[in-house]
Parts: sequence; structure tokens; C-alpha cells
Amino acid sequence: MKQSKRRVLVTGGAGFIGSHIADAYIAAGDEVWIVDNLSSGRRENLPGDAHFVELDIRDAEIRNLFREVRFDLVNHHAAQIDVRVSVLDPARDASINLLGLLNLAEAAIEVGTERFVYVSSGGVVYGEPEEIPTPEIAPKLPLSPYGVTKLTGEYYLNYYRVVRGLSYVALRYSNVFGPRQDPHGEAGVVAIFCNRMLSDEPLTIFGDGEQTRDYVFVRDVVAANMLSSNVSMGDEAGLDARAFNVGTGVGTSVNKLADVVESIAEKAPGRILQPERPGELRHSTLNASVLRGRGWAPAFTLEQGLRETYEHIAKQRSDNAE
Ligand SMILES: NC(=O)c1ccc[n+]([C@@H]2O[C@H](COP(=O)([O-])OP(=O)(O)OC[C@H]3O[C@@H](n4cnc5c(N)ncnc54)[C@H](O)[C@@H]3O)[C@@H](O)[C@H]2O)c1
Repeated sequence: MKQSKRRVLVTGGAGFIGSHIADAYIAAGDEVWIVDNLSSGRRENLPGDAHFVELDIRDAEIRNLFREVRFDLVNHHAAQIDVRVSVLDPARDASINLLGLLNLAEAAIEVGTERFVYVSSGGVVYGEPEEIPTPEIAPKLPLSPYGVTKLTGEYYLNYYRVVRGLSYVALRYSNVFGPRQDPHGEAGVVAIFCNRMLSDEPLTIFGDGEQTRDYVFVRDVVAANMLSSNVSMGDEAGLDARAFNVGTGVGTSVNKLADVVESIAEKAPGRILQPERPGELRHSTLNASVLRGRGWAPAFTLEQGLRETYEHIAKQRSDNAE
């Protein structure tokens, strides 16, 4: 693949992770377009040097954009990301996460896009895994419509690769955290904890707080995307041969996370214990040794990532207060 001035499309580039990815392609010298409908993304996340197209990924206009720009690389981060929304409205989840994907994949094939990077989710495609840290080859038994659409996206891309010649890589993220994560949803416990701490409010812990997650810092996720944009892939059959888990392999309990946030904030406004939430996974940690074998490794400790996130949220709050 060409190394300089590739034409790169980042979908969801006004969102948390996608905006960091767009920054990284620009820093690498690529020309970047962002497609986002701003349903959860924000204009202030958009890198100044990117071309912004406010558009839904399901829109027929996508085909014209591809014909006009002829993207070398597509990095697809736009999605309906909320598990609870997917449970309440599975058709909406499938519409965005599957019909949107098909629109992009058909367009990419038409113009001969060289690589399609797709974001799946290691936190949901394995369901309640037996093996922890979970490797790519573990059984895939998603327990939410969101998990089903993320996995089905991989099946579609496998079809597009085998039958229509589209080269793709699927990244199965664990729990990503970092600056620009939306603190207002339920998804970003790190952002929620940082915000509550900055408001001197107690942290809410569901259940005994010993449930574990694999928290991976967004800059490490960016590095995984840059690698996947260029890495050569073999012809081995099957979904798992095209998928990389992206996680640290370390499970961190909610109690431990609260401890680290308190030590960074140098205060402890207390904790409120709430009953366990039904349907929540007990443990989820990914084995990323396949990606490590390709030269990737997390460069940030949990503490380093949390400190940067905390400082970013603190600055944002003081800027907003002015
Ligand atoms: N945050 C995590 O821990 C995590 C874990 C696993 C996978 N992922 C995946 O990473 C990707 C990015 O997630 P995020 O956490 O940055 O969320 P986010 O909500 O910040 O980003 C999603 C972006 O997609 C845009 N979008 C949504 N629907 C769209 C549509 N129909 N057309 C165009 N744009 C649309 C939103 O406006 C937003 O900017 C998603 O695919 C998500 O499933 C995230």
C-alpha cells in the first residue's frame, strides 16, 4: 500500500476513538475524510486538517463520496455502541451496524479500496467466556443484539474478502478509555469516575465491585489501528485469521479502578454500593498475543492512561466553566 498521502476515510471520526484515529492518520501524512452524523460525536473532536462530511453511513450519498475520492483505506468506527439501546431497539442497532457496514463495503469494493479496518468488540462477541484472558479462537456467543451485529459484521466482511476480494482486518477491542470519552453514558466508567471525583461526588459501585474488565488506553488502540492499516495478512480461512484482540490481558476490578482514580485525584469522596446489574458479565479480559506477535504492545500503564484522562476531563470542565 502507498505510504504517503493515502486517501483515508474514518467513519465515526467525530467520536471518542475515531477522532484519535483520524489525528494519527493526519500525523502520518495521510489525507483524511471523516464521515459522521454527529449522533454522539462532537464537532470539537474533529481534527482541523480533516475534510468533514456530515452524513449517515447508511445514506446512498456514501457511494458518490467514494466515487469522487476513491479512498485507499477505510477505517470504520461509526456505530450504534450502546448495548442497552441494542436490547431496546435491535432493529435500530442492526440498521446502523449492519446496513451501514454493507453500504461502506459495497462502495469500497466498487472503487478498489485496498484495506478496510473494521471495529468489532472483544467485550461482547465472546459472550461470557470460559477462557480468560480470552483468545480470538474462543467460541463466539454474543449475549446482546449489539454483540450479534458486531460479530455479523465480521461474517459479512469475510464474505466480501473471499468472494469479492476486499482486504479487511477486524479489531476486537476490550474496554477503551481516554480523553474525549463521553462521561454521560453508562459505557465509560473511567470518564464517569473522573467526573464524579472532580465534582466531589461518591463513586457508584454495582455489586461487590470485584467484576473485572480489561482497560486499554486509547493511544494504544490508535497504535493497533495504524499497524492494522498496513499489516500484510495471509490467506488463511476463517474469521479469527483476520481478527485481532486489542487489550492488555490484565483484568482490573471496579474497586481497583476506583482506588487508582482516588490516588490520582488525591481525594476520596466515598463510594455508594448498588445492587449488581442483571446481565452484566463477571469477567472480561482479552488475550492479545496474536497482535503482540505482529509487534504491537500496550505502551501505557493503567495509571498513566488514567492520569492523562483525569487531567483532560479536569481541563475541559474548567474551560467550560469559564
Ligand atoms: N469504547 C469502547 O470501549 C469500545 C469497545 C469495543 C468497540 N468499540 C467500537 O469502537 C467504535 C467507536 O466507539 P466510541 O467509543 O468511540 O463511540 P462514539 O459514540 O464516541 O463514536 C461513534 C461515532 O459514530 C458516529 N455515528 C453513529 N452512528 C452513525 C451513523 N449512522 N452514521 C454516521 N456516523 C454515526 C457517532 O456520531 C460517533 O461520532 C464503535 O464501532 C464501537 O462499537 C468501542
